[in-house]
Amino acid sequence: MCSRIILRRMIQYNILSRKYNSTLSNDNFVRIFEVGPRDGLQNEKIQVPTSIKIEFINRLSQTGLKYIEVTSFVSPKWVPQMSDHVEVLAGIDRIPGICYSALTPNVQGINKVVSLGKKGVDEVAIFSAASETFSKKNINCSIETSLQRFNDVVKIAREKDLPVRGYVSCVVGCPYEGKIKPSQVVPIIKKLLDMGCYEISLGDTIGVGTPKSIYDLLKEIQSNDIPSNKLAIHCHDTYGQAIANITQALDMGIRCIDSSVAGLGGCPYAKGATGNVATEDVIYLLDGLGYETGVDLNRLIDAGQFITEALKRENASKVARALLCKQQGETKTTVKSNQT
Ligand code: HMG
Ligand code: MG
Repeated sequence: MCSRIILRRMIQYNILSRKYNSTLSNDNFVRIFEVGPRDGLQNEKIQVPTSIKIEFINRLSQTGLKYIEVTSFVSPKWVPQMSDHVEVLAGIDRIPGICYSALTPNVQGINKVVSLGKKGVDEVAIFSAASETFSKKNINCSIETSLQRFNDVVKIAREKDLPVRGYVSCVVGCPYEGKIKPSQVVPIIKKLLDMGCYEISLGDTIGVGTPKSIYDLLKEIQSNDIPSNKLAIHCHDTYGQAIANITQALDMGIRCIDSSVAGLGGCPYAKGATGNVATEDVIYLLDGLGYETGVDLNRLIDAGQFITEALKRENASKVARALLCKQQGETKTTVKSNQT
């Protein structure tokens, strides 16, 4: 009986290690693109003090993260929370080797970034969608018009040697149009890459995807000869599927993951969408699977606790909550044993 259990465990272990080794031999390093200061905070109704944003970004800069999306150069009438972009960028302590980035939806946004010179950002991002209705609600124009505008943004960015990242929102589902087909997503990815984006982040904006829909999407993208190293995955966790979806994406060769510390976030134009997948949960997953990220989980938890306490919010990272609870338990045990 006992030897049968051991045999079963050995078989399971072998299958698992073969599965994960095949992934590891492909590429063992995963880039984490932290979007907490931008996606995480943009939907906050009460204006977060600029000094808190600066301290939050400074703490994130101490975690080993190499990509931090810090703010947006969008209309302050549309997203008031991001209106202090200049002050945030002027206040942060920039660590060499970290890429600080921002969203720029139009020429006005990119020109503002350029005018800031060294106090600007290291790269910018443009954001399109696979859903017409979402595009209109989010950036007030059709997909076609947005792509024309982005062309001008990319031209200016390239003149200034600023790399441009592209987002496609609603890659599997839209809050207004429902299910989105992979065939609606592929043409947008191609246009953004042709325009000059170095990478496209696939946004499950309202977190409705499952490993099956992510599989179908990535299969369609791959069958159109778009290489996985040009892609990132950006999962909101509304339906609790983000970690499963990321695991699916990793299995299919994706090596860049967007996430928000403490699971902050949401899009003001995607009602009901909750935060991004928590960076702490992603790091725990990746550590467990044997991937390298260069990110220090404890420092990340510190940054997550800092911002959730500032927002008077519960930390949405399960990993952060579990580890903090464990630490508190250990402290209590130490105090008790010191008292006895
Ligand atoms: P519009 O109203 O069509 O723009 O908005 P406009 O050109 O007609 O200008 C209207 C006013 O906005 C003018 O001011 C402009 O100066 C000003 P007024 O003359 O009335 O005083 N304006 C700007 N001000 C500062 N910076 C700018 C700028 N542009 C215009 N860059 C616009 C079009 C795109 C500007 C607007 O719709 C907008 O700002 N949208 C932002 C939407 C947004 O930030 N959404 C959240 C980010 S996307 C997201 O979260 C999804 C993602 O995470 C991936 C995923 O989860 O799927 C990336
Ligand atoms: Mg998002």
